[in-house]
Amino acid sequence: MIEMKELERKILLNPGPGTTSKAVKEALVVNDICPREEEFGDLMTEIVEGLIKIGNGGDAYEACLFSASGTGAMEAMLSSALSASSKVLIITNGAYGIRMKQICESYHLPYESIHEFGNFPDVGLIKKRLRNGGFSHLAMIHHETSTGMMNPLEEIAACCDELGVTLMVDAMSSYGACPVDLQKLNIGYLAASSNKCIHGMAGLSFVIFRKDLISELKKSSGNFYFDMYKQWSYLKEKNQLRFTPPVQICYAFKQAIEETLAETVPARWKRYQSNWEVLYQGMNELGFSFYLPMEQQSKILMAIKLDEKLSHGFDHFHDYLFERNITVYPGVIPESKTFRMAVIGDLYTEDMERVISVVREYLKA
Ligand SMILES: Cc1ncc(COP(=O)(O)O)c(C=O)c1O
Repeated sequence: MIEMKELERKILLNPGPGTTSKAVKEALVVNDICPREEEFGDLMTEIVEGLIKIGNGGDAYEACLFSASGTGAMEAMLSSALSASSKVLIITNGAYGIRMKQICESYHLPYESIHEFGNFPDVGLIKKRLRNGGFSHLAMIHHETSTGMMNPLEEIAACCDELGVTLMVDAMSSYGACPVDLQKLNIGYLAASSNKCIHGMAGLSFVIFRKDLISELKKSSGNFYFDMYKQWSYLKEKNQLRFTPPVQICYAFKQAIEETLAETVPARWKRYQSNWEVLYQGMNELGFSFYLPMEQQSKILMAIKLDEKLSHGFDHFHDYLFERNITVYPGVIPESKTFRMAVIGDLYTEDMERVISVVREYLKA
């Protein structure tokens, strides 16, 4: 047995990589292994199966893994599924929706966008655009991490289903915590990464896709490293990834997936929401106000207005908290000065209470 050094508990309120469990950290320390060995291939397959299980994908879904951050999975999804003869409508109501647009521009993929930064999606308008615009796909962010807005996935999924449009979802900062039923919502593609609500380490990202879309993937890739069809079929046929995986991160991810399934997604969702409420109420009582109205809040992250309460500025506030093992995150909203706090990770009520007590102490000081 390897002795683990004592680690300090850090409360990460940045939207991932988040606070991980002791067992996930310990899972990183494994015997050296060549990732082309069968044992490692089996681990990758178990990871794929676990990821599909988290979203209740059953036998109707497959998944492929990439050694990349979340943006890699976004790029793989868009550049593998779309082609010059497709047309995607992208909901661009935050930084990550805009990133989807930038990826489509890089690959010269036909797209149109709807909504501006901070707008709550208007499902009626989206339906009208889908009906009249000749779109084959719709791409959206589930939880817009830049603002903390939960986009109405179920309503938009119902429109896509009705109109025969393939739905592509970036659920980077929701998958694993907020229940998403792949089959019920008939999601075409879903992209996410190892280091957010599944509580693994950074380094792996993945795209889950409906099996009937394999033919679309086979014909339309204009990429190389991020070719979903090649990546998926190589693992199926050779029990290996095409290129070097982050070996130890994969072991930790397997442990994180097992913990997600053991806690269950609905129970994790309850814990996130309850952590968020404690944090929201505490910050509210300390006099902070919020960028979004309550009904649009994801209950995963909050964008908090950076007003005169923090008279020494965000960095001073950040550093005070950081010295006390708490990490807060800057904002990215163009029109409004904000900072962000997320409840992503192995965090509990007592962690939220500690955050509030340290913020109170800071404001007094
Ligand atoms: C919704 C969403 N999509 C994509 C990304 C990009 O992920 P990464 O920074 O790991 O590339 C993030 C990162 O926070 C995100 O929140």
